[in-house]
Amino acid sequence: MRVEVTSSPLAELEADVVAIGLCDDDELPDELAEAPGAGDVKTAFRKTATLFGERAGRVLVIGLGERGELDGENLRVAGALAAKQAGGASATSLAWVLPDCGERVQSGETAAALVEGTMLATHRFDRFRSRDPEDPPPPDLESLQLVAADGAGPAQVEEEATKARVTTEAANRARDLQQLPSNIKNPAYLAARADEIAQDNDAMETATLGPAEIAERGMGGIVAVSAGSAQEPRLIVLRYRGASDDAETLGLVGKGVTFDSGGISIKPSRGMQEMKMDMSGGAAVLEAVAAIGELGLPLNVVGVVPAVENMPSGSATRPGDIITQLNGKTVEINDTDAEGRLILADALTYCVRELGAVRLVDLATLTGSVVVALGSTYSALISNDDELAERVEGAAEATGELTWRLPLHPEYKELTKGTVADLANVSPKRKAGTIYAASFLEEFVDSKPWAHLDIAGTAWDTDREYVGKGASGYGVRLLVALARELSGDN
Ligand code: BES
Ligand code: MN
Ligand code: ZN
Repeated sequence: MRVEVTSSPLAELEADVVAIGLCDDDELPDELAEAPGAGDVKTAFRKTATLFGERAGRVLVIGLGERGELDGENLRVAGALAAKQAGGASATSLAWVLPDCGERVQSGETAAALVEGTMLATHRFDRFRSRDPEDPPPPDLESLQLVAADGAGPAQVEEEATKARVTTEAANRARDLQQLPSNIKNPAYLAARADEIAQDNDAMETATLGPAEIAERGMGGIVAVSAGSAQEPRLIVLRYRGASDDAETLGLVGKGVTFDSGGISIKPSRGMQEMKMDMSGGAAVLEAVAAIGELGLPLNVVGVVPAVENMPSGSATRPGDIITQLNGKTVEINDTDAEGRLILADALTYCVRELGAVRLVDLATLTGSVVVALGSTYSALISNDDELAERVEGAAEATGELTWRLPLHPEYKELTKGTVADLANVSPKRKAGTIYAASFLEEFVDSKPWAHLDIAGTAWDTDREYVGKGASGYGVRLLVALARELSGDN
């Protein structure tokens, strides 16, 4: 989608649809006050009305509610509402008159939120649908103009709008990856996507490991989880150098299970098709690194995605098997469906010891428990470092990709001890499933500052206005915001 900033007057805007947001005390611009439909205008949040004014095309009025309550999330929702209505009217161009939200308009935050809402809401995954020439789908929205009042800091508005476009494109690419079926999106496919990302940018490179290297290095978790599948595993490494070599490296680790059948501890068949999305953390990491590189942010990042398929077969790992992870710790695999923590364990160790990360953030669709606890509204955030956790929370708040912090405690750690090995991948009573998994992962971060996000509930079917059902792309916008914050680009 083309995104541009203008300050043309209303009458001169060239767009199929013009959207205007009104807060509670706002009134329609004079030239629209008498337009047919003006009587239906309501300013309550989410209320929409259509005007048929003198200018060609239609004017959509979107209620924004109380000015004091207006934030980025409301604006993303408003953007989504306008975009869907414009799409319903077969518009290919939309102009948004930036609402008067004081400081936030100046800073470009309003424009960014509208770009996000618009681009996320109009994204479709329809490449596998046959085209019916008799009933073609509505055209795509091709351009979004943001109409800034004269003097509303157009340079900064323009800059933030562009950054939001780049970031949201990445989020939509992550959604496509999530949505792809597992017969196409195998571990090699994800590795090829990382190579493609690296090819576009001189500051990026991949250093992906294949099955032989994974086994040789002693990544017992990745070996064990992929043992039942005909698909070879990959340990995808995508590095971006945006700062000097002696600057610290941020490690981003994403779970990349391209299909989670549960393995020998097989899942019930109902709903199992959704487990194609068990690589959502990996998709978010790859596309976030792509966006960070495209924005040229001044920091060093390494994205690591252990990519495997978890399948039952004669060569699959059995419940009760004991493995040795990359850092030497032994694990009893008492449930082959608790596979994410096994592959992440090796990836985290590798990220610290071989790739030099000094701070870690991992994203994983790790536990069903988090869906029970927090639904699709918040991801669980679990961290051994308050400062990093607070930065993640800041990025979450700003992007609407919300997190809720859960605790670590020695008693949970006690649960992770094995009966005959150092650790067990599940506890017999399944207490505190989400925290258990995080406590397990903590054994592999070499005490580095680390934040874990369990995104099992937020990656899919969130029903937010701007992403709806299916893939949400959760994490891309959050990670880019975090990288901007860490690199001083804000
Ligand atoms: N990939 C699943 C978690 C999941 C659940 C993701 C729902 C998305 C939606 C994970 O590998 C898993 O199977 N976890 C088990 C762990 C259990 C065996 C301790 C779970 O949560 O049931
Ligand atoms: Mn599983
Ligand atoms: Zn899984």
